[in-house]
Amino acid sequence: MANPKFEVYIVDELSLRAQRQLKSASSILWRIVPARALAKYLPRAHGIILRSTSPFSKKEFQKAPHLKCLVMAGTGMDHIDLKEAQSRGIYVTNAAGANATAAAELTVGLLISLLRKIPQADDRVRRGRWTPLTTLPLRKSLRGFEISGKHVGIIGLGRVGRRVAARLQAFEAEVSFCDPYVSEANGTPFKKLPFRRLLETSDIISVHTPLTSETRGLLDFQALQICKKKPFLVNTARGSIVVEQDVVRALNKGLLSGFAADVFETEPIPRTSALLKSELTLLSPHVGAQTLEAQERVHEISVQRLIDYLLDGKTEGGF
Ligand code: MLT
Repeated sequence: MANPKFEVYIVDELSLRAQRQLKSASSILWRIVPARALAKYLPRAHGIILRSTSPFSKKEFQKAPHLKCLVMAGTGMDHIDLKEAQSRGIYVTNAAGANATAAAELTVGLLISLLRKIPQADDRVRRGRWTPLTTLPLRKSLRGFEISGKHVGIIGLGRVGRRVAARLQAFEAEVSFCDPYVSEANGTPFKKLPFRRLLETSDIISVHTPLTSETRGLLDFQALQICKKKPFLVNTARGSIVVEQDVVRALNKGLLSGFAADVFETEPIPRTSALLKSELTLLSPHVGAQTLEAQERVHEISVQRLIDYLLDGKTEGGF
């Protein structure tokens, strides 16, 4: 390669298509590195594509004196110290929207699984609990709820929230949302409600805001006490938007009917978490973005953003 100008490190993996994109940029020398080895390459990196599992704090910025561009291969950037990046003039961006459909589909999947007790049904069948004698009591114990006719409250009507809302509307739910940054006038077919009213009136609540200083701990015990209809709560956004111990308390007190989550205050979820002990919870290991289609899109967009910035100084989205 003739005099590469930029060194770029990509955490964990990159699709073949995205690798071809990078190969066509001859002034970029690139390498896929395991997450645990990233620290070693920080002193040389001009660009990095990283994941939500690689926190990037002041400490990492200090070790990367040549860094010009940081791309999150996904949406959430709460693990990156954006203020530090800004003070150093480093461009930080993401592949916003590339995995929104995957996240929305997982949300609907978790919701149906929670309402129809699908994991419990599978477990009973596998454990031989379905016998001629037990058929009727077994069916009754697995009786669930329909989405149709329910009032769904979407917290945060961004790319994922909108997709969840549209899908649940197709299930004949009545969908409302709260979001200080979206007005009904923006052409949304969904009814806008104040946060408190949404909590009071929803049978199902689905969380889709980014994690910011405004949303951290938004769903604490005080908020959950406002819920009047014993809703099911789903969180596929970021764990710290809900206070997990308050959710457990609300489940135990009968303020919530069930809780499904793909994201947690601490990831991986600690083995001691009370969420693991409840029959009313359904938990997945942060797989919202994990579809083949979403990952292909994420890789291509991430690489394109990096090339555009390093070679042409072009920015799109980001900070
Ligand atoms: C996102 O913010 O896009 C996802 O949570 C990223 C991930 O799957 O790690």
